[in-house]
Amino acid sequence: MDNTKEIKGKLYFLFIATLIFILCIAVRTPRTYRAVPQPRGVLNMACPLRISERTITRLNSTKHLLVSAYMDQRVDGLDVRIIGIFKRDSIQPLYCVFCCAGQLSNTNPGTILQHSDNFGFPYVTTDVMCQIPQNCDATHVGLLTQPGGERVFNQTWLPIRNQKAKGKEEEKLQFNFTVCISNLFGDYNNVLQFAQTLEMYRLLGVNRVVIYNTSCGPDLDRLLQSYSQEGFVEMVPWPIDQHLNPSRGWLFSQSGGDVHYFSQLTTLNECIYRSMDRSRYVLLNDIDEIIMPYKHNNLMSMLEMLQQQHPNTGVYLIENHIFPKKHFEPSGRFHLPRWNGVPGVNILEHIYREDPDRESYHPHKMIVKPRLVEWTSVHEVIKNSGQQFKVPMDVCRIIHVRVALRQSLTLEQLNEDKRLWDFQEQLIPSVDKVLRRAGLGQS
Ligand SMILES: *[C@@H]1O[C@H](CO)[C@@H](O)[C@H](O)[C@H]1NC(C)=O
Ligand SMILES: *[C@@H]1O[C@H](CO)[C@@H](O)[C@H](O)[C@H]1NC(C)=O
Ligand SMILES: *[C@@H]1O[C@H](CO)[C@@H](O)[C@H](O)[C@H]1NC(C)=O
Ligand SMILES: *[C@@H]1O[C@H](CO)[C@@H](O)[C@H](O)[C@H]1NC(C)=O
Repeated sequence: MDNTKEIKGKLYFLFIATLIFILCIAVRTPRTYRAVPQPRGVLNMACPLRISERTITRLNSTKHLLVSAYMDQRVDGLDVRIIGIFKRDSIQPLYCVFCCAGQLSNTNPGTILQHSDNFGFPYVTTDVMCQIPQNCDATHVGLLTQPGGERVFNQTWLPIRNQKAKGKEEEKLQFNFTVCISNLFGDYNNVLQFAQTLEMYRLLGVNRVVIYNTSCGPDLDRLLQSYSQEGFVEMVPWPIDQHLNPSRGWLFSQSGGDVHYFSQLTTLNECIYRSMDRSRYVLLNDIDEIIMPYKHNNLMSMLEMLQQQHPNTGVYLIENHIFPKKHFEPSGRFHLPRWNGVPGVNILEHIYREDPDRESYHPHKMIVKPRLVEWTSVHEVIKNSGQQFKVPMDVCRIIHVRVALRQSLTLEQLNEDKRLWDFQEQLIPSVDKVLRRAGLGQS
């Protein structure tokens, strides 16, 4: 019995070995008749792995920066998307090289896709699409300026993330909602508003907040350290200022600089790919904005309704509504003495809402299904499958406490809106707890 098994096993092994041998021959023989030639396979050389530990890596002997690589097989013949920041006037052919379970692959030309929204800046978010060669169990990818894998010496490799994208079912997603906060910079130290915003989001069903951090103020740093230890916040270091002269504005002709607003467009796209395999929905908004359901008490029940009414929608556009911070609600009931020592705006004290100026351009923010998005901008998605839907403002709107946008409006011309107060009973103790944990304010 066992003997037969052994012989069977040996025969099986011989069969597989022969098959691999034939395959290798076939790979080495040029096959001109093949319609779409797949890139040739694996070289008999170990990859000298030097994996990039940084979030921004310069591509050697070019002006371009690389950020991350994600498996993305939504389009036939393209397997891996490398997200980068490229200098527009220096685009050159690039060659993909893979590390296939420890073996170096041959190179093949990458497809370079510059994002369309560059706002006139010299650097733009750029994706390089790479095809995985035959017989390659790809773990890492790199880019070269010349073909030929033999040239790879001190290549810096990017790990390929989202490896199991294909087999994963929707039910197994780890998160329902991820909030992507792009680009913390300067000495931003608006701690109270930030703690209130994050705790509000937690109550609404958000599971993860991803923050791209160039720099921040000392108290906010403490709060964020504490949040990321807990795991609710995921900090991504974003030292863009060490590589480029990032602009603080959004238009090159007005503000100059190398790249739009601390390369916000790159971080938003990066966050969508980072979330694609683990989060059902992604919210794209700024640090001082809350995407707030007005008819439901959490985001999931709102999205369940919206999905039912608009089943083919992948992008929900949410209107921005400004609550000027110069107007305080008169009772002062949420002016809590224990928050006096905490820097920042207390959003519970600002309940007067501007009507948007319908005559002028009115920007939205978004809730997206990440797997239906290919490229995003700040206020719209620029490449996607699925439809977009403008969510009516009685269903959902953004609560955005900041300096007034329409300065000329008087208090009487604003709308009273106490939506945040509906959550105060849970919100205030939660905020107290995170402030205490971070050692901020009085206990
Ligand atoms: C690779 O890098 C190491 C140290 O960083 C250096 O000593 C070596 O000369 C480099 N090799 C090549 C071929 O560039
Ligand atoms: C960078 O490229 C130069 C030539 O283009 C090469 O000599 C050098 O070894 C490369 N360094 C790394 C770290 O790849
Ligand atoms: C996601 O939403 C569903 C439905 O509301 C809920 O049962 C589940 O616990 C949520 N998952 C997470 C991780 O919050
Ligand atoms: C944000 O980045 C700055 C600059 O690198 C760093 O000093 C700070 O500790 C970072 N904060 C967090 C919470 O990661």
